[in-house]
Amino acid sequence: MTDRKATLTFKDKQHNSYSASFPIYSGTLGYDVIDVSSLGKEGIYTIDAGFHATAACKSSITYIDGGKGTLLYRGYPIDQLVEKADFTDIGYLLLHGELPNKTQKSDFLGLILDHMNLHEQMSCFFSGFRRDAHPMAIMVGVVGAMSAFYHDSLDIKNPDHRNLCAIRLIAKMPTIAAMSHKYSIGEPFMHPRHDMGYAENFLHMMFGTPYDESAPDPVLVRAMDRIFTLHADHEQNASTTTVRAAGSTGANPFACISAGIGALWGPAHGGANEACLRMLMEIGDEKNIPEFIARAKDKNDPFRLMGFGHRVYKNYDPRATVMRRTCHEVLDAVGRHDDPLIKLAMSLEKIALEDDYFIEKKLYPNVDFYSGITLNAMGIPTSMFTVIFALARTTGWISQWTEMVQDPNAHLVRPRQLYIGKDKRDVPPAEEW
Ligand code: CMC
Repeated sequence: MTDRKATLTFKDKQHNSYSASFPIYSGTLGYDVIDVSSLGKEGIYTIDAGFHATAACKSSITYIDGGKGTLLYRGYPIDQLVEKADFTDIGYLLLHGELPNKTQKSDFLGLILDHMNLHEQMSCFFSGFRRDAHPMAIMVGVVGAMSAFYHDSLDIKNPDHRNLCAIRLIAKMPTIAAMSHKYSIGEPFMHPRHDMGYAENFLHMMFGTPYDESAPDPVLVRAMDRIFTLHADHEQNASTTTVRAAGSTGANPFACISAGIGALWGPAHGGANEACLRMLMEIGDEKNIPEFIARAKDKNDPFRLMGFGHRVYKNYDPRATVMRRTCHEVLDAVGRHDDPLIKLAMSLEKIALEDDYFIEKKLYPNVDFYSGITLNAMGIPTSMFTVIFALARTTGWISQWTEMVQDPNAHLVRPRQLYIGKDKRDVPPAEEW
């Protein structure tokens, strides 16, 4: 309840004046919100196509302060979480609200490892794809197809079903991701192992073969775990909003997460890590950087510096700070500090950070700038970058979906529009079309 109100006065098309009041609510942190849901009764709507000033839901999972460059999962700052917790802890925290104690953690990890394998019959789905299919396309398809397979957990009103779906999704994403890669290079699928953790299992399934004992480098395992942690959730971004919108219709979680994967794919969102690496390859040489910086600043050129800028962060992306450190740890571990692509990325970062255009518009490197370079140094193919983002973000998506399904005040997402088409008209005889 609130006693604060915002009053809106407006004129209709006949210039009659109206006034209406709306309640103002405060959250724990961040901006207050004006609840305009009753505005339609006054015969007028609001429009905010990019959701620049529209809160789409109430949530207690993740908080971002874009001005200060703060990211909190369930209240805990991301820089503390990456030091003190691993991705299993993060999955539990996002889903259940608190960090797990020792028993809760080992039970949660045990459950995930039990569900990590894909049913052998599901592996047949992969052979329906062309060898050169993008792994994101495979992932959208296979995750959506899980609803054709796991019929025993599709009652979204049943908390046990919801939990089983969440575990299945978190557990099987690394397997599906690695299988997409193995399929594209023609190597046999690898099974997950019970003696390895989450990130280690992913690297084992990506790079191991049945003919070689797989032992992922601990530095790379730690880096992978951090990449997962940093990408686990990010409040109401485009893909999470897609998951919630799909979920608001009562669709099953596999279908909703598949929709989220599709939304993540675009270069303005999760596809930026792949686009960033491709951009670095296109720049090719440090001497070409000024030309690309000039293109990024040119209003008549659609080119943007990928891996720079963010809708919410108008300060350094806190994920990028951790990712930058992790990137250097990986470069040390694999001995690639002198790699021309890495040197090019570091020069580009320096030049852009000192350029007036980027300073004035508060365009800092975002998480995707460093994650692309790090994944490249780890030997991960560029086409897998966004798949890895999707794998990690699944914990956030399913936590947000669960929160929404449990919210008694959640509504079907159904926006209105400002119609700018033709006025009502009669269909003329066909010969006049
Ligand atoms: N390079 C050059 N100019 C840029 C860039 C960029 N990367 N990003 C924003 N601008 C300019 C833009 O042209 C605009 O200029 P003006 O005010 O003169 O019209 C101004 O900055 C504001 O940009 P905007 O597009 O209105 O801002 P937005 O909040 O809609 O865009 C963004 C955010 C992430 C889509 C954009 O910064 C961008 O396209 N960045 C490159 C793609 C990228 O790295 N995406 C990953 C985001 S982080 C991962 C995630 O969380 O999804």
